[in-house]
Amino acid sequence: MSTRSLSCAIREALLTGEAKEKVFAARTIARDWRMERLEWQFECAMPDRPAWPRDLHLAAPGKMPKRGKGGSEKGRIALWHALAHIEFVAIDLALDMAGRFGEQRGPQFMSDFLSVAADEAMHFALLDRKLRSLGSCYGALPVHDGLWESAARTAHDVKARLAIVPMVLEARGLDVTPATLERIKRQGDENGARILQRILDDEIRHVAIGTRHFHETCRDDDENPQKLWRNLVRRYFSGGLKPPFNDSARSMAGLSRAFYAGLA
Ligand SMILES: [Fe+2]
Ligand SMILES: [Fe+2]
Repeated sequence: MSTRSLSCAIREALLTGEAKEKVFAARTIARDWRMERLEWQFECAMPDRPAWPRDLHLAAPGKMPKRGKGGSEKGRIALWHALAHIEFVAIDLALDMAGRFGEQRGPQFMSDFLSVAADEAMHFALLDRKLRSLGSCYGALPVHDGLWESAARTAHDVKARLAIVPMVLEARGLDVTPATLERIKRQGDENGARILQRILDDEIRHVAIGTRHFHETCRDDDENPQKLWRNLVRRYFSGGLKPPFNDSARSMAGLSRAFYAGLA
């Protein structure tokens, strides 16, 4: 029986920079956890920043390559590259959620967020393969830092982290993905459409997991979830929420309009 520590395994995956290795590390942890091969030990602290590929070029959000809407080769690559980066950062966000707050929130929380990390690793792998089929790969274009930055501000507080990462950032994915999916379908890219549909389905589950744990944490601390969520979003999310919202996908994830209606 192995005695690998859960926290040290998660820390190691966060500090793995090379994309394929991070994917492998995240999926291995999720599987090892399910098979009870990891010890409930928390002696390893989570790093302030995860490692990313060494040659990845970080650019300011305004300086990003244009994602094409018309379907030019360059624009298509920019779109899939931007999506691949979102999924790559999502691996770290899920691992960090599990490693940083799992001890405090318990085994179900750990299982849920490690399963999210494994999903994100799969999403990234699908998108990287898509990029390769277009003659590109992850790292070929600059990426931005914004996604990790908006999470890093909430490293001290599990409720703030849940409010921002699954319930704002991943929920935003539910709002914008259907339009991209429709466009990809119109361009006749069936393989691309299948990838986006799978991601959309999984992301509903991710938002549901985050929302459920947010409610549980509020219950434990005797707080009003809607009121607290709105305060946390105002404090930690500078962008403001952008309609239109995908109300049906959001409500499938348990995120009712009572949360976000007043904030747009
Ligand atoms: Fe994802
Ligand atoms: Fe996700």
